[in-house]
Amino acid sequence: MKIFITGATGFIGGHFARRMAGNGHEVICGGRSPAKLNSLPKEYNPVRIYLEHKETISRVLKKEHPDIVCHAAALVESNSLENLRRVNVDGTKNVLDACLAFGIKKVIYVSSVAVISGNKEVPLTDDLPYKATNAYGQSKAEAEKVAIAYRKKGLKIAILRPCIVYGEDEPHALHILIKWLKQRTLPIFGEGDNKLQLVSVENVVDVMALCLSREEAYEGTYLIADKEMLSVKELFYCITRAIGAKSPIHVPRIFVELFVKLPVIGRRASFFLKDRTYSIGRIKEKLGYVPRVSTCDGIKKAVLSYGKGR
Ligand SMILES: NC(=O)c1ccc[n+]([C@@H]2O[C@H](COP(=O)([O-])OP(=O)(O)OC[C@H]3O[C@@H](n4cnc5c(N)ncnc54)[C@H](OP(=O)(O)O)[C@@H]3O)[C@@H](O)[C@H]2O)c1
Repeated sequence: MKIFITGATGFIGGHFARRMAGNGHEVICGGRSPAKLNSLPKEYNPVRIYLEHKETISRVLKKEHPDIVCHAAALVESNSLENLRRVNVDGTKNVLDACLAFGIKKVIYVSSVAVISGNKEVPLTDDLPYKATNAYGQSKAEAEKVAIAYRKKGLKIAILRPCIVYGEDEPHALHILIKWLKQRTLPIFGEGDNKLQLVSVENVVDVMALCLSREEAYEGTYLIADKEMLSVKELFYCITRAIGAKSPIHVPRIFVELFVKLPVIGRRASFFLKDRTYSIGRIKEKLGYVPRVSTCDGIKKAVLSYGKGR
């Protein structure tokens, strides 16, 4: 199969590109940064695209005519709704417009659990209403609505919603965490017994690969998570052991309420005070998803890969 991947110079798109190329598919790797594109092997067919400029995407689709487009590019680390909308919403429209124009039938769209994470239900399920808690989540929700509108125009679009993704070469949080833990100790607020669920990039890529052969992928939306729902305490011990850092310390409940009122750090801390779990019943039933990588093993592998490059 010939697969065009946007965001192939990024974390998830890069893992998907390597898996697909390794499985004998022909990949065309779309990215923005010349340095990252130049570091890709020639047989990955690196190509520079800007989501904001439809012609850069149209040119690739017209020339290559892939069997499937995987749209994994997005602006992730920004608080500006205007910038997020330009890349994530208008950019998704540009990708899907180009697909329609050049007769590409199938698209895998990497959305995010952030589109529903403001709902109070535990665990979160696929059918909850859109409720984002930040500008990024709002832009991803608007982009999903765009994708659903293009389904009505005839495109088959698999909408995947990973929760927080970890793995080898994870660029958003791992380096900060490792640096932080070199000097400090991870605090566990209260008993640390609320539950968290993450997802290994390997498991996400397994689902993306399932989309190549499962027609059911192109109906509905699919939350993706590991099978384990670990307590904050279990997760933090797993992380510190993997990094070889000091064991976490427990912060007694009476200090927690004061701590979460602090600017920035308080908001970050309060993330760990809520259950954040996801139902993966639908994706298991409809796509046959089996979470292959367990959270603790996956985190260990990610930490070991840190700083090694590819
Ligand atoms: N990581 C997570 O925990 C997570 C969780 C849920 C959902 N997601 C979703 O998964 C997808 C991939 O995330 P990621 O973690 O792999 O992000 P990432 O590592 O930051 O990669 C983002 C990719 O998008 C490209 N890109 C950004 N802006 C672009 C633009 N204007 N035009 C063209 N390309 C552009 C980047 O290109 P360059 O690097 O070449 O500039 C890069 O290839 C996103 O849609 C994100 O919303 C991620």
